[in-house]
Amino acid sequence: MKKLIAFSAITAAAISAQAAQVEIRLNPSDSAPVIPKEIYGQFSEHLGTCIYGGLWVGEDSPIPNTNGYRNDVLGALRDLHVPVLRWPGGCFADEYHWIDGIGPKENRPRMVNNNWGGTVEDNSFGTHEFFNLCELIGCEPYLSGNVGSGSVEELAKWVEYITAESGPMAERRMANGRQKPWRLKYLGVGNESWGCGGSFRVEYYADVYRRYQTYCRDYNGNHLFKIASGANASDYNWTQVMMQQAKDQMHGISMHYYAVDDWSNHGSATKFTDDDYYKSLAICLVMEDIVKGHCRVMDEYDPQRKVALMVDEWGTWWDEEPGTIRGHLYQQNTMRDAMVAALTLNIFHNYTERVKMANIAQIANVLQAMVLTKDDKMVLTPTYYVFKMYAAHQDAKSIPVTTDTPERTAMEGRPAVPTISATASEKDGKYTISVANTDLKEAQDITIDMSSIKAGKKVTGEILRAADIRDYNDFDAPDKIKTAAFDKAKIKGGKLTFTIPAASIITLTL
Ligand code: AHR
Repeated sequence: MKKLIAFSAITAAAISAQAAQVEIRLNPSDSAPVIPKEIYGQFSEHLGTCIYGGLWVGEDSPIPNTNGYRNDVLGALRDLHVPVLRWPGGCFADEYHWIDGIGPKENRPRMVNNNWGGTVEDNSFGTHEFFNLCELIGCEPYLSGNVGSGSVEELAKWVEYITAESGPMAERRMANGRQKPWRLKYLGVGNESWGCGGSFRVEYYADVYRRYQTYCRDYNGNHLFKIASGANASDYNWTQVMMQQAKDQMHGISMHYYAVDDWSNHGSATKFTDDDYYKSLAICLVMEDIVKGHCRVMDEYDPQRKVALMVDEWGTWWDEEPGTIRGHLYQQNTMRDAMVAALTLNIFHNYTERVKMANIAQIANVLQAMVLTKDDKMVLTPTYYVFKMYAAHQDAKSIPVTTDTPERTAMEGRPAVPTISATASEKDGKYTISVANTDLKEAQDITIDMSSIKAGKKVTGEILRAADIRDYNDFDAPDKIKTAAFDKAKIKGGKLTFTIPAASIITLTL
């Protein structure tokens, strides 16, 4: 039974009076699905300094690099176990012509990045640079193909260039220095085709999708996983028409939801009130309703769940930082963003029978980034630390969790915010339990009955917390927020108990 707190009506003191023991129940089941590692996917777009400056500085840069990729960022991403990286957009993808990004750099044509601040793109980071990056990080590439302003031939030839062992496109690739084909699994056929990707009506896009995918072939044992451009947030009609018209031609369909309530007023990333914080969590939790809504539609047409739902853009989207270039979407990242990340990942863990991939936007210097860079400096964001703490859930068997947490109504018409949000999984006999305390004032005493799992008595932990929810890491204070060891959890009499401080996130390993 959940305890309900009407937030707007009561004071922090009243909330604290309600703060209580919270019980987390683990309900392991043989039929519980594995959490696909791709839920921890990332997204990199030619936008602002995500690619140029964030990932790539070029071989001649004084910034320490490996073949042009920043060493600090490479190291950080390797530690994160990034499973999949989406590229080159976003909106940029539907204006991108891959052929301009291959061959000698001095011959590559330049273009205007019309979507993102009118910056001139010199195409020095192209197909080879992207695929080599994926090899260096050890992740699957996920290409977003140009449907809006490209052609079927262009996309078909891109697939051939990347994956064929022989033939004219393979020869061209070899002439550009790559002998062996790369492996390409995930192929997106357009991005936001309802908007920046071509302003299609769904009925028309369904046919266009069918046509494009026909010519994207599997070469030499490579198997494409074809992803249709999907709905904007709760546009269930888009999903419905696509499922009706094209479900047999797709392996997945995407969906984008950003934790934004008012697109004309995003709000500052760092200057917000406690009320704003709770509202942001309520807005991020709308993700669950939207995922459920799309799952319901997909279940109607595909009860066996052959078609996957890919949330290939999600995250916070605040005002751009003052003093930065308009259209580059550079934003700071506070402990509030970390909380949004934890709550959203907890949601995804519960829908993995249908949701097979999610890609937070974006990996560096754009929106809810993992890393921020400035010249030769890099900081890891609070969101980065959540992804790192949660990495053990990748490909682990999920353990459904229930709690008797109190909840607060932060915004009318939006989901109530649970004080405690938890998730658990098991892999190779190792149990991982992640718990977030969303309350800004009160610690919570947690009890977990261990009788349903076969864990030993040893428990280790990590905690992420900040003195203030508005705290963030910046170039002059890069370690203000980082994880620390948490050794206060104890197992006694078959119960795991610990106190989780206010506004913190803990991951325990048993
Ligand atoms: O992530 C930024 C932008 O948000 C992407 O380019 C687009 O797909 C979405 O609208």
